[in-house]
Amino acid sequence: MKLSNTANIIGDSPTLKLNAKVAALRKEGKPIVHLGGGEPEFPAPIAAVEALVKKAQSRKIKYSPASGTPELKKAVTKFTKDVYGIDVENKNVVISVGAKQAIYDFLLCTVNPGDEVIYPVPYWVSYPEMIKLVGGVPVEARPSKGLQITLEDLLKRVTQRTKAIMINTPNNPSGLIYSESFIKGIVEFCEQKNIWLLTDDIYNRLVFDNGNYVSPFKYAKNPQNILAVNGVSKVYGLTGLRIGWGVSYNTELIAAMGRMQAQTTSCNSSLCEAGALGALEGDQGVIEELRKNLEHNRNVLLGELSKIKDIEVFTPQGTFYSFVNISKYNKSSMAFAEFLLDKVLLSVVPGANFGVDGYVRISYCASEENIREGLRRLIWALDKNATESIEIGGKLVKKDW
Ligand SMILES: Cc1ncc(COP(=O)(O)O)c(C=O)c1O
Repeated sequence: MKLSNTANIIGDSPTLKLNAKVAALRKEGKPIVHLGGGEPEFPAPIAAVEALVKKAQSRKIKYSPASGTPELKKAVTKFTKDVYGIDVENKNVVISVGAKQAIYDFLLCTVNPGDEVIYPVPYWVSYPEMIKLVGGVPVEARPSKGLQITLEDLLKRVTQRTKAIMINTPNNPSGLIYSESFIKGIVEFCEQKNIWLLTDDIYNRLVFDNGNYVSPFKYAKNPQNILAVNGVSKVYGLTGLRIGWGVSYNTELIAAMGRMQAQTTSCNSSLCEAGALGALEGDQGVIEELRKNLEHNRNVLLGELSKIKDIEVFTPQGTFYSFVNISKYNKSSMAFAEFLLDKVLLSVVPGANFGVDGYVRISYCASEENIREGLRRLIWALDKNATESIEIGGKLVKKDW
């Protein structure tokens, strides 16, 4: 029996695979420090939990409308007003199984086989695979310098076949935010050229140092070509609910995305929709609490990283991640990450998964204690003058490298 061509070209999600590997190693009793994750350790907001319990107790856990319940859409319109400063209605919102499904629906609804979709490097691991899934051609746009792409770098990749551009700010994995002039330029260009623009804004409330996320809608005259994606996974730490959404002035796009869902997943889990509604209507102080905690943890991480010679790190302006240049230690990020996992039971994500070798992604959404412990191991592993052994999880580990 043969699998389809699509099945054969689509790769695993490296980050989900790493999570599974870490879970398996922990089950074996290995004291792994996981700084490779993409979800905060914070417990779920109480308002979300109460709403979930209430919904479960109603014993009405049925199908819900394919593109989301009207109540949840309404709450998303309020979120959109607060975050982007724009007025939208329920017809401009589609609720999906995580931000991930909204991105995939968008591609299904806008890309024909052979169409090109451009995204900056470094990129979130799923973009190229999702583009391939819909028969599109993934086109990487690499920064000419550093980790931050310029408008020129991006526009160089545009051809007659460019159908869509996808940007993610603040960015996973670099933690960097695109500048106001970049957003203005890309929005104006896409509008002029009739190119779809997806803005993956899943981290846009998790910004540090009073920095500014710039809304694409600020510069759009007639934003029929823009889909803004967001969700509850990151800001409320509700990754397991699997609720995200897309917002667009283009109601034809939103309706088509709803049809894709109706014919594939039927609808979102009504239980999870109730939980997400609880989070959106509950105490919004939880977001600021998480943001502050992340900013603090980022500072702890940067402080520890500064003790390591020969690495380079750009200060993350948001998200959960720092992207660290380790190429002076090892040009292969895969080999470097394997070395850390094998020798000091520390997990980080190889930069190669995000399109840039010689870097690793180190997350600071773990607890401060885990960040400090992870960095203690990293520093020891890399320091040629360090003591011959250290204790890890109650056992003495000796250097054999
Ligand atoms: C940039 C980016 N977009 C989208 C997602 C997916 O979010 P969700 O869990 O809501 O599907 C993630 C999750 O890691 C992400 O980092």
